[in-house]
Amino acid sequence: MLEAAKHLLIPSKRSNVPPFIVMDVMAAAAQLEAQGRRVVHMEVGQPAAPAPATALHAAQAALVHGRLGYTEALGIPSLRARIARHYADSYDLALDPARVVVTTGSSGGFILAFLALFEAGDRVALANPGYPPYRHILSALGCEPVLIETSADTRWAVTAKSLIAAHRSRPLQGVLIASPANPTGTMMDADALARLIAVAEAEGIKVISDEIYHGLDYAFAAETAANVSEQAMVINSFSKYYCMTGWRIGWMVVPDALVRPIERLQQNLAISVPTIAQIAAEAAFDGRAEMEAVKHGYEENRRILTQGLPKAGLDQFLPVDGAFYLYANIARFSDDSLDFAKRMLNEAGVAATPGIDFDPIDGRHFLRFCYAGSAAEMHEAVERIGNWLNSAPR
Ligand SMILES: Cc1ncc(COP(=O)(O)O)c(C=O)c1O
Repeated sequence: MLEAAKHLLIPSKRSNVPPFIVMDVMAAAAQLEAQGRRVVHMEVGQPAAPAPATALHAAQAALVHGRLGYTEALGIPSLRARIARHYADSYDLALDPARVVVTTGSSGGFILAFLALFEAGDRVALANPGYPPYRHILSALGCEPVLIETSADTRWAVTAKSLIAAHRSRPLQGVLIASPANPTGTMMDADALARLIAVAEAEGIKVISDEIYHGLDYAFAAETAANVSEQAMVINSFSKYYCMTGWRIGWMVVPDALVRPIERLQQNLAISVPTIAQIAAEAAFDGRAEMEAVKHGYEENRRILTQGLPKAGLDQFLPVDGAFYLYANIARFSDDSLDFAKRMLNEAGVAATPGIDFDPIDGRHFLRFCYAGSAAEMHEAVERIGNWLNSAPR
């Protein structure tokens, strides 16, 4: 190879995004299991249950039928109409199906939303702690993620006040909110959501609402940003409530003016979303009774952890409002959540994700537990953590 050609292989600056540390915990857990050790998995944020039977049957039938071609870039019309009906059923909102865009998971939705809303160099506010790909996708697209610190006083969410303070110090072009949130599992109530959106819009700050954990709310019902403003960009997914992570299918509710630009982006970036996943997703809406049973399982898991962990020694955690996460403060035991997570895995056989994945500022004091497994696993985790914290000198 020509010496000069080697320079061509230097990765672009924009591709230099940090890794997802939870993947390292998964790899370490898999190594222990290969050695015959038992591990309770609470590190990965995905349901243990399969997609609803209705979705599986629809996909099987589509395979038997044979041909799976491209679909319309914005999604199969009947699926878009079915998603719009979901807003009438769940949020009492009459939504025009023309504003619904089908995406490859909410992950595909973020790329479309950020490209449609922002120029390179735009500044977008995010809650800290938060889901790491928000900031990594923004950076890869040349935008600047601006982390806004949250605290117990504001239920760990960006507020109208903290947004304005950040905007006054240097102007923002966007804000991304999530309720229920990952990793905290906390939620914004309808008033907090409405106040934030009103202030953002008055200041010309575009709002994106990640509603991927809607349906998994235990403390109070989650409100959609689509009910607050027609200008808000809503992102959702079949991954969590419908247990369809691997199907890679989600949707957006888009302001009228952005439908066509997003259609053009989707045509060029993806052509269309996998057809079999769209067919399965439409049928998934008929499987809600099955998914409600799965949700009741999470509620039971939440009860086991919120009652059991304090007795085991982990007695400080954020309000466990929704999603399937419990975010525990481990500052009493360690200043290094990565080391704590590694030791808890090796010595207690419980895998959880260190907070540094979600919070570059104070994540060393936190661990995220995913409680999407079985009740038996939750009991086992509580017992193992209790024995470990009470036996080892720390
Ligand atoms: C808050 C949040 N948003 C988005 C995603 C991406 O999900 P998907 O692309 O599977 O819809 C996740 C996945 O864990 C998440 O936790």
